[in-house]
Amino acid sequence: MSATISAIAHYIPQTIIDNSYFENYLDTSDEWILKRTGIKQRRFYLEGPTSDMIIPAAKKVLAIRKIKPKEIDCILVCTVTPDYVFPATACVVQDKLGCKNAWGYDISAACSGFLFGLQTAVSFVESGVARKVLLCGADKMTSILNLNDRNQAVLFGDGAGVCIIEKSSDKKLGIIDTDLHIDGEGGKHLKKIAGGSFLPAWNNAVKPEEHYIYQEGQAVYKNAVTEMANSTSLLMKRNKLKPKDITWLVPHQANLRIIKAVGERLDIPDEKVAVTIDKTGNTTAATIPIALSLLSEERKLRRGDNIILTAFGGGFTWGAIYLRWDEL
Ligand code: UT7
Repeated sequence: MSATISAIAHYIPQTIIDNSYFENYLDTSDEWILKRTGIKQRRFYLEGPTSDMIIPAAKKVLAIRKIKPKEIDCILVCTVTPDYVFPATACVVQDKLGCKNAWGYDISAACSGFLFGLQTAVSFVESGVARKVLLCGADKMTSILNLNDRNQAVLFGDGAGVCIIEKSSDKKLGIIDTDLHIDGEGGKHLKKIAGGSFLPAWNNAVKPEEHYIYQEGQAVYKNAVTEMANSTSLLMKRNKLKPKDITWLVPHQANLRIIKAVGERLDIPDEKVAVTIDKTGNTTAATIPIALSLLSEERKLRRGDNIILTAFGGGFTWGAIYLRWDEL
C-alpha cells in the first residue's frame, strides 16, 4: 500500500509586517533584508498560541476531504514552538477539533519537521497503524524571536500548514522515496537553549537572550545549500529523474539565496522552484506545507506531477521526499 497527501491547507496570520517596520528601530534596511534574504514581509500572529493557527487550516482540510473530526485516527504536530512543553500540541489540537478517536504527539525537528512528520505519517498508513493522519507543520516563531536583534528579527514569521495523509488512489502515486538525516554535531550553530532541562526557565542564571533563537547564519547557510542539494540529487538519481522531469521543487524557505543556489546546483530552473519567503519569511516547520498548499490553491498541481520537498534546519536535521501528486 502507498500513502499520499489527500488534502492540504494553510493558515497565515492577518498581521503583515513589512521590512520598513524594522527600519524604525533597528540598524537595518529594506534593501539589506531584500538583497540578503529575499524577504519583503512576514506575518505575526498576535492572537494566541501555535495550536490556534493550526485549527483553521485543519478545519479546511477536513472540509476538503468531507470527513468528520472523529475519522482522524492520529495527529502529528511538527513544531519548535509548541503551546506548552507538555501536554503536546497534538493533544491541544485533538481537543479543540474534537478528534475523539485520535492519538498523536509532537515532532521536534525544526525546519525539517514537516518532512520527518510526513515520513512518520506515511509509515503509519502503510503499516496499517493509522488510516487518516492529520499532519501539521506550524510555528509561532515570534514566541522565541528577539525582535531587538537585527540578526534574527527580520528573518522569521508565523504560520501553519496542515494535511491529511491516507492511502493513495493508485500505488504509483503518493510518497515514493525519502532521504532523511540528523547530525547532532551541528546543534551548536542553531538552537534555543533555555526552557528545557539543560537550562530550566526558573534558573536565575538564565539570560533573557537564551530564551530566543541562536543562529550562526553562515555555518547554517553553507550546510543548508550542500545538504538540500545532495539529498534532492540522491532522490533524483535513485528514481531516474532528470531536471526536466521535476514539476516542482519545494524547498524550505529560509533565504532566497539558499533556494536559488539549490536550484542552480540541480539544474532546476527558477520557474519550477516554489518561493513564498518574500511574503511569509521563515516559518520553520510550516514553510513546506504552506508552499505546497499555495500551489494547490493556485491550481498549479496535477495528478502525477513529480514533486520533491527538501529542508535543512536546527539539529542539524535535513533531507528530501519525492512524491507524485495524487488527487483522491
Ligand atoms: O531555517 C533554519 C535554517 N536557517 C537558515 O538556513 C539560515 C541560513 N543563513 C542565512 O540565511 C544568512 O546567513 C543570514 C540571512 C542569517 C545572514 O546573511 P549573511 O549574508 O550570511 O550575513 P552575515 O551574517 O554574514 O552578516 C553580514 C553583515 C554583518 O555585519 P558586519 O559584521 O559585516 O559588520 C551583520 O551584522 O550583515 C549584518 N547584518 C545585518 N545588517 C543589516 C545581519 N543582519 C542584518 C540586518 N540588517 N537585518
